[in-house]
Amino acid sequence: MKFNVIVTCDKGLEEICMNEIRQIINKDCFIYHPGAIYVKDVREEDIFKLNFLSRTIHRVILLLMEGEFKTLKDLRNKIRQINFKDYIEYNQTFAVECERTGEHNFTSVDVERTVGKVVIEHFFLKVGNRILVNLKNPDILIRVRVRHNRFWIGLDTTGKESLAKRNYRIYNHPAALKTTIACSMIFLANWNIKESLLDPMCGGGTIPIEAARIALNIPNRKFFMFERFKFMDLDKWKKMIESHKIRNIDYNIRGFDISPKHVEGAIKNAKSAGVEVKFYVADATKEPLDSDVIIFNPPYGIRMKNPRYVEKLYMKFCENAKKSNWKRMVLITASWDKFKKYMPNPKREIFCMNGDLPTKILIYEK
Ligand SMILES: C[S@@+](CC[C@H](N)C(=O)[O-])C[C@H]1O[C@@H](n2cnc3c(N)ncnc32)[C@H](O)[C@@H]1O
Repeated sequence: MKFNVIVTCDKGLEEICMNEIRQIINKDCFIYHPGAIYVKDVREEDIFKLNFLSRTIHRVILLLMEGEFKTLKDLRNKIRQINFKDYIEYNQTFAVECERTGEHNFTSVDVERTVGKVVIEHFFLKVGNRILVNLKNPDILIRVRVRHNRFWIGLDTTGKESLAKRNYRIYNHPAALKTTIACSMIFLANWNIKESLLDPMCGGGTIPIEAARIALNIPNRKFFMFERFKFMDLDKWKKMIESHKIRNIDYNIRGFDISPKHVEGAIKNAKSAGVEVKFYVADATKEPLDSDVIIFNPPYGIRMKNPRYVEKLYMKFCENAKKSNWKRMVLITASWDKFKKYMPNPKREIFCMNGDLPTKILIYEK
């Protein structure tokens, strides 16, 4: 069986995600809308692989229908053409979640209710039973995205929780970086496992921990919603998971933070994530930053400290970085102009959304 899928990711980082998709399943893909990538003609094992092996994907949605619509009634009539019983068993529960962008005379809850009624009606007419809704823990999660006069609807193959949620964080740093953005930065740094990597302001350790998990080939998680899809050959999935090998290699990954509390938290997180990373209490404006690759997420002066503190921090950090030995440096900040004042001319800069905060990833080469 072949499917079309929509892969969701961080807005602004679609190119990096598309590179990862091409690498994992060797399929071409294109940006469908910000934060969403379209991949045509994928096999079920490709869906398993994307969920299991990717680092930058949020969700993989198996597309049921897409197109234009005028009114909610029109949308309902279009969705009525989907043969839901090909994908959902009569005794499975389901839920519908909708995200909406644009001006409409209905809400996303109205869309959820409408689609829910269509599914119930479909089972009543075609199978003769009343399929049950379970909003908390459904067997099947139908996702609908409405963008202005366009929509898509599909089955979430990932699950209620995005793949960005890795479930190893015991210590929650107040400004923790999203794991998928951390991995995108690691890919943008073109880091080779043989090279040393340093995060000089590591907080709860997201970047070093994600890098170590990439080095060791540790998957994000092992449980996904597609395991409840009776229309897929799940034996292929069982074989994939059984044959997956964790790499046994040495790597040189370090993290510094000025706060002993965060360093202690990072050590706990690394242990929970199943990796060893060397974390140190150190001041990134003073300690030599000698490492092949430097990847970090400094304070932005927006969430954590006042802007003047950050300006001084950036100035002193850049003075130290200029004296240190490194090859490539990648950072993310919402105060990119301040950073570029002290280290102008990055090789590349990428605008991306860090949650609802506009940020830039700056890439430097020495
Ligand atoms: C945005 S947070 C990093 C969050 C981290 N990426 C995570 O996911 O948990 C920035 C960190 O920089 C640290 N920091 C600030 N000034 C520093 C300095 N001079 N040297 C080292 N770390 C510093 C802060 O303690 C804070 O934990």
